[in-house]
Amino acid sequence: MITNTERDLICSNLSRGENGELLFASHNLSSLAEKYGTPLYLYDESKIREKCRAYMNAAKDFFPSGARVMYASKAASFKRLYEIINEEGLGIDVVSVGEIYTAHLAAFPLERAYFHSNNKTDTDIKYAISMGVGYFVVDNAEELYAIDRIAGEMGKKQKILLRITPGIDPHTYAAVATGKVDSKFGSAIETGQAEEITALALSLPSLILYGFHCHVGSQIFDADVYLATSKVMLEFVKDMQLKLGYMAYELDIGGGIGVRYVADQPTPDIRATLRSVAEAMEKNARELGIALPTVCFEPGRSIVADAGLTLYTVGTVKRIPGYKNYVSVDGGMADNPRYALYGSPYTLLPVARRVGEDKMVCSVVGRCCESGDILQEGVTMPEDIRRGELIACLTTGAYHYSMASNYNRLGRPPVVMLDGDRDYVAVRREGIEDLTRLDI
Ligand code: LLP
Repeated sequence: MITNTERDLICSNLSRGENGELLFASHNLSSLAEKYGTPLYLYDESKIREKCRAYMNAAKDFFPSGARVMYASKAASFKRLYEIINEEGLGIDVVSVGEIYTAHLAAFPLERAYFHSNNKTDTDIKYAISMGVGYFVVDNAEELYAIDRIAGEMGKKQKILLRITPGIDPHTYAAVATGKVDSKFGSAIETGQAEEITALALSLPSLILYGFHCHVGSQIFDADVYLATSKVMLEFVKDMQLKLGYMAYELDIGGGIGVRYVADQPTPDIRATLRSVAEAMEKNARELGIALPTVCFEPGRSIVADAGLTLYTVGTVKRIPGYKNYVSVDGGMADNPRYALYGSPYTLLPVARRVGEDKMVCSVVGRCCESGDILQEGVTMPEDIRRGELIACLTTGAYHYSMASNYNRLGRPPVVMLDGDRDYVAVRREGIEDLTRLDI
């Protein structure tokens, strides 16, 4: 059950004003709701920068042989964010023409981009090469042939990494576990396909093999998962050196560091995690008698999640005596499908006041025409909560705006950035004209 106590101020950018009102990045949420309307996605710019710096500084301090940090832009992708990521010196991981184009519009240097996806179409491949995307992360042999052919036709040599499946169980929810042998992603070491694809990559004329990549899953709290993964991957690097005479320049161990959505989850320490990975990798490499390749990290969620908060306005409050209470808000699964998809926990708080003695347990639900449109169940709200009050959903910076839909022809909320005293629109609200723009 989610309770509304100071314990629920789960990130350092949350506080209460003198009147008990919830503040985010020191901003008054009622004023922002009045200015921009709800539902409203808010981002705390300084929190994004703080997380970028935690990764970049740890990469510099703990990996003397070099490390890179590539922001996984599937977590949140819009122009202003790419500008911030660029200013902070990170690279990016992109997975579609849409993400590449958005980064391009933000003047992001695409030579610092990794192009992922388990199924890149010929059109995607041509587009990414023509835009100068630095590296492709290649999922399988079929894709390898396609990229080689297209790069050859375009008179280019394309740098690539191979996505390898290390056979690691990341202990997270099924939808985001990707490191096991039966995954739809990558080529498995266990089946011999990883070796096959390495030999193939080395034989193709229009490709330059830079190294190997893996990503075992998301919302990971246990640093041991990274230690186990990096060990398996370094052994594979060594194996390829012995068998094929190929030494990888880069080893990308993916993203996945977890974030705190509710008070009883921990806040993983990014710097400490990278330090322990660095120490373990140095040791493994020494024992294997190889030089440590440049190590890459691809964090998405842990860069942006707790920089985000979504504001909603309460509409209908429905009590079904003896059964259930519902508090409906003006958003829902269209702007946050994560409870519907994964049963993800969230902290939801009334904005104007704390929950006092008079409280009720309710489901906070959205406005879409289906029963699965739930933001969270078992939430504690003031007994007399009513139409017009504001509710904040915390930790919504990752996989919210990027996963939002127009289901029921709802427009997506705007993205408003908070920077010091300033607030500004990064993505405007989708209106009815936007929703019908493509209809003929
Ligand atoms: N690298 C690769 C290859 C990935 O597939 C992912 C996430 C990341 C990096 C970044 O992982 P992160 O640091 O954000 O955990 N929609 C789901 C998450 C899907 C993650 C997909 N891949 C959710 O809302 O929980």
